[in-house]
Amino acid sequence: MELYAINGGNPLVGEVEIGGAKNAALPILAAAVMTDETVLIENIPDVRDTNIMLAAIESIGAHVERLDRHTVRINAGGINDLVVDGDAVKKIRASYYFLGALLGKYKKSTVVLPGGCDIGCRAIDLHIKGFKALGAEVKIAHGMVSTQAQNLTGGHNYLDIASVGATINIMMAAALAEGRTTIENAAKEPHVVDLANFLNSMGANIKGAGTDVIRVRGVEKLHKTEYTIIPDQIEAGTFMFAAAATRGDVTVKNVIPKHLESISAKLLEIGCEVKESDDAVRVVATKRLGHTHVKTLPYPGFPTDMQPQIAVTLGLSQGTSIVTESIFENRLRYVDELIRMGANIKVEGNTAVIEGVEKYTGASINAPDLRAGAALVIAALSAEGMSVIDDIRYIERGYEDFHLKLQGLGAQIDKVETERELQKFRLKIG
Ligand code: UD1
Repeated sequence: MELYAINGGNPLVGEVEIGGAKNAALPILAAAVMTDETVLIENIPDVRDTNIMLAAIESIGAHVERLDRHTVRINAGGINDLVVDGDAVKKIRASYYFLGALLGKYKKSTVVLPGGCDIGCRAIDLHIKGFKALGAEVKIAHGMVSTQAQNLTGGHNYLDIASVGATINIMMAAALAEGRTTIENAAKEPHVVDLANFLNSMGANIKGAGTDVIRVRGVEKLHKTEYTIIPDQIEAGTFMFAAAATRGDVTVKNVIPKHLESISAKLLEIGCEVKESDDAVRVVATKRLGHTHVKTLPYPGFPTDMQPQIAVTLGLSQGTSIVTESIFENRLRYVDELIRMGANIKVEGNTAVIEGVEKYTGASINAPDLRAGAALVIAALSAEGMSVIDDIRYIERGYEDFHLKLQGLGAQIDKVETERELQKFRLKIG
């Protein structure tokens, strides 16, 4: 068993250092196999998903050398297998980035069908359409997706939905295709831009990442590079809402404030003070916060990965708030757990109608997925009394040292593995 034991009710106060972006690291690690030369990547978060990605890279014959906790050197010159498979890989959705990366370099790839968080149906039709537009054949059989191309040639893509995954996969394959590729209605998330910058630092020719239209001119091969991953927008946002919900005063350091604008705007709207400097944002909440309406949207809109964290905060705010999830269809399941802590929330379809309550009360709850799990930790930190959060393996998929960083802000939280440790925590808090 691995649980978080939390004694809530204290404001979080202090500074917290934000790590590298998980959702940028995952495609960048996949793209690192697209050259036979050595690639050095810094600021990789040490979380379960990135470690699974690194193990997958090794499993197909690349050489991975960890220089320190956040830096790796990868040489993919020795790749001898174009099939990415295994139980761990199946559990992370980002394993499908090997489809585009290996298709680009070897004109062939096979990957076990992706898993990831259970937050709704997560199709890959747009990825497949994109590979086909580049001249590849795509097959799904026995739980695996395979791509193959005689000649990978540039193509025109219009994405019906601005999918992050499809934009990234098409961009990787197109980087090593012959000729020009355009991706219209491309995703504009910071991690899409980070991957484009990484590929360009290896000699790719990608323009327009961060806008609606990405243009790729294929090159023959990619070369060595040294690259530092951007800070994690969602980790930063999670601590910003933790500050708000606990009525604390937290500075998130080593961030790009521009990436946090939609989050800062909502915090300001509900009555927090938000102070930005070059690479830090301070969030101060001194009184009970106000209500608002929010709808998740592709970047630069409010991120779906921040939806549970804002809902938990609005659950404690004065008045009625409405949260609408427009990206995934099954992302409000955590509400049942929050209701067990005293929240007053009604869910209709993809909308949560939240009547703010004065306080939550501690309870034993389960983390249903990565971001909802983190949001329930925030709820427990702001609740009266003790909570126990189970299934924290989901949270550890994307947050490095979550409980240690929270402890640094004064939170009473321990990771416990045995009933005895849980008892010790109970005694400690008295
Ligand atoms: C990525 C992020 C995830 C974030 C999401 C939206 C990673 C590893 N994960 O997920 O944390 O919540 O972006 O910002 O970076 N869709 C299709 N067909 C497709 C692809 C997607 O219908 O071929 C739909 C999905 O079902 C979903 C929507 O498009 O409703 C957005 O999905 P997408 O942007 O692709 O999300 P992911 O890349 O899976």
